Amino acid sequence: MDANQPIGVFDSGLGGISVLREITALLPGEDYIYYGDSANAPYGVRPTEEIRQLTTVVFEKLIAQGVKAIVIACNTASSAAGEFLRGKYPQMPIVAIEPAVKPAVLSKKGGTVLVLATAATLREHKFRHLLEIYKGQAEIIDFACPEIVEAVEHGDIRSAGLRKSLEERFALVKGKGVNRIVLGCTHYPFVRKMIQEIAGSDVMIFDGAPGTARQLVRQLTERNLLRGDSRKGSIVWQNSSVDPALLALSKRLFSLRE
Ligand code: DGL
Repeated sequence: MDANQPIGVFDSGLGGISVLREITALLPGEDYIYYGDSANAPYGVRPTEEIRQLTTVVFEKLIAQGVKAIVIACNTASSAAGEFLRGKYPQMPIVAIEPAVKPAVLSKKGGTVLVLATAATLREHKFRHLLEIYKGQAEIIDFACPEIVEAVEHGDIRSAGLRKSLEERFALVKGKGVNRIVLGCTHYPFVRKMIQEIAGSDVMIFDGAPGTARQLVRQLTERNLLRGDSRKGSIVWQNSSVDPALLALSKRLFSLRE
């Protein structure tokens, strides 16, 4: 590997752009290939084996383009295929994301931590293991919000329909003392503001993306793969879907600040 090679960042679709925003803020001089597998999104409702097959196809595409590291900017792919991909590509620096349960649990005492993630993430061993570690320290509950993934993929993140559907989900946990929310799917930060409004302003929200970006910096530093020069890097946008609207939507999500 060479420091001048690009970094591959991928997700089942456009959600990983919320992670790419954090990474480029820390490492503006690097070149990136962002790969969205929107033709196969959502991953969150698929069986583990299928997610492994799909992510292998994406890895092959990124490796063929000479990336020096790959960020799995998708909690679902990280949970279902992270270890599998590390075993298959031992030479490739791989950074995976996981729901920010640890900082949420450790942030305060009392109340309940609500983890929002896909059905696949919530059923996988990686998340069950996190629960085992932290369940003695906080009440932890969870549910999936597949409608957010759908809304982000269509660029429809402010709709009244989405708000109504989320209000209904949150009504089911009313009275459970939720005071912290973990955004355990990389599509969800694009509706962070709506979630905050529904949950209430005193609820703290946690996102795994900044920690993932810091982890990438650590891995590249350890392997001497950080670009040393001061330059403005580039982003190449790639997607498995042929929908021509996706390029503009990707760029719009990338510059969105909530
Ligand atoms: N963005 C993905 C995640 O972080 C999942 C969305 C999907 O279901 O494809 O889990």
